[in-house]
Amino acid sequence: MSRCGVWRSTRESKTNHNSYAGEISLAPCRGFASCRGSLGRVIPFFVSGSAPVRTRPLIETRLSVNLERVAKAGNIGIVTMLFGAALLGYFVSFYFHFLTVALLLLNLVNFYWRRVQKTHSLLANFGFLAQGRYLMESIGPEFRQYWFSSDTEEKPFSRLERSEVYRKAKGIDSSAAFGSQQSFDRSEIKLRHSFFPAPHDTIEPFRVTFGEERGVDTAFTITRPILISAMSFGALGQNAVRAFARGARKAEIPMNTGEGGYPKYHLMEGADLIFQMGTAKFGVRHEDGRLDEQKLAELAAKPEIKMVEIKLSQGAKPGKGGLLPSEKITAEIAELRGVPMGRDVVSPPYHAECTDPASTAAFIRRVQEIAGLPVGIKFCLGRDAELRALVSEMKRQNVFPDWMTVDGGEGGTGAAPKSFMDSIGLPLFSALPLVLDVLEEEGVKDRVKLLASGKLVNAGRQITAMSMGASACYTARGFMLALGCIQALQCNQNTCPVGITTHHGHLQNGLDVEAKSERVKNYVLGLHHDHIEMMSALGKTSATQLDRKNLYLPASGS
Ligand SMILES: Cc1cc2nc3c(=O)[nH]c(=O)nc-3n(C[C@H](O)[C@H](O)[C@H](O)COP(=O)(O)O)c2cc1C
Repeated sequence: MSRCGVWRSTRESKTNHNSYAGEISLAPCRGFASCRGSLGRVIPFFVSGSAPVRTRPLIETRLSVNLERVAKAGNIGIVTMLFGAALLGYFVSFYFHFLTVALLLLNLVNFYWRRVQKTHSLLANFGFLAQGRYLMESIGPEFRQYWFSSDTEEKPFSRLERSEVYRKAKGIDSSAAFGSQQSFDRSEIKLRHSFFPAPHDTIEPFRVTFGEERGVDTAFTITRPILISAMSFGALGQNAVRAFARGARKAEIPMNTGEGGYPKYHLMEGADLIFQMGTAKFGVRHEDGRLDEQKLAELAAKPEIKMVEIKLSQGAKPGKGGLLPSEKITAEIAELRGVPMGRDVVSPPYHAECTDPASTAAFIRRVQEIAGLPVGIKFCLGRDAELRALVSEMKRQNVFPDWMTVDGGEGGTGAAPKSFMDSIGLPLFSALPLVLDVLEEEGVKDRVKLLASGKLVNAGRQITAMSMGASACYTARGFMLALGCIQALQCNQNTCPVGITTHHGHLQNGLDVEAKSERVKNYVLGLHHDHIEMMSALGKTSATQLDRKNLYLPASGS
């Protein structure tokens, strides 16, 4: 067998082969002795016997940029140019002195970066050219999003998922061609259709009533299986809140206020509201963070407030309270929440009143009595044993929330520690069946409704959640996308480029409340259309017929 070799660059040789520039790396080749050079050119040489005979390529074709040298040249260059400009200014034209001043400033800043500051090693080693790297890094996400990421790979929502929502929100055809771009690798949950689809006109109108189990006379009925999930004024700017609320009114769905306190902008639009009480109880708190019963009673008496949701935890940051970064705290938000300006507002990880199952059940009863409305709880599931303990305590005290919202660990947020978003809390489709099991095994499924949230932005995931026991679905980011969210991932910085999660007037100007409220409505109508189509395909005439038998769950193989 003959052998062949290629010239390798110093770096390649050192790192890969423990040899040095100029040495020949040997790799077995069959028959004709030629190999591909590092630029893709074929560099032939012939070898016989065991001693390799090497032929040098006639022309060295490797081009490479030595950034260290370029930076050195740049740093010397700007000093040279400074003197050049000064001379030109002196001898040729006074106007060159403008250039001299600019170069002088650049040199001073460069000197600071290289010799004074100690924070950035790159700047210290390479000077002003290192800024090029920072610049490219800062616009990397945009380039990846626009050009380089495929339609299915972006997170948390791929371009395909986003465009489906955009198209629905604009009221244009969201059908696709040629075939699904999802991977079919037996890890996906699928809906099982029927040989005998239900005719559309046999599908019953959707209707779910909260509070009917307790027989409260303020029981509230929803007529679409979709609700706008909690997003506070604070996380959202006022235009976004108003567009959501107006859109919710037009689409005849309720909107959750989020934990941001007094729902000033929500109330302006006359939508049906679910007032959310977070762990800091903004809007209904005493100074020490405990519940102010009078404030809650006053709020609950408003005709727009239809239900109250006690947030125990949230999928994006379970075990941690809400976080509103100081950048986003305006004087108005500080007033509505009752917090100081200039500091991050961190809510406690749990309600002061809820320290164990017994006190939690008692607190739910208290809120139900004060509000006189249907009252639910929201949580992300951690330990199902703890949920079981809570449910048995509810049985013991004979107090049940009117619904439980199960928020998946994949849920969104205005701001949260990345480690919490990535690592804590069960994903929705793992949690929902566990919660349903607990309720069924404890024999209380008929006492509590389930709502679900966690990337339920399309009808497929929504029907899946409903087949796992949810009576209806919340989505937050689905509605943000409907409003035009481009997934810039800046919700925590007050710089949202489309004006949704910002309080800057100039950025909110682009968000026209009336136009965007139409998008919210269109999105809901688009989903409604898909729900009917999918129910029909599943052979179901009512959402109450959806159950786990509709699902193919690959993990269980059933
Ligand atoms: C900008 C933003 C703000 C949010 N604010 C709240 C909040 O105030 N209270 C809460 O319980 N959940 C909040 N959430 C979580 C959502 O209500 C929802 O549970 C979660 O995002 C999952 O739904 P999604 O995947 O459809 O977005 C927020 C989410 C986002 C994106």
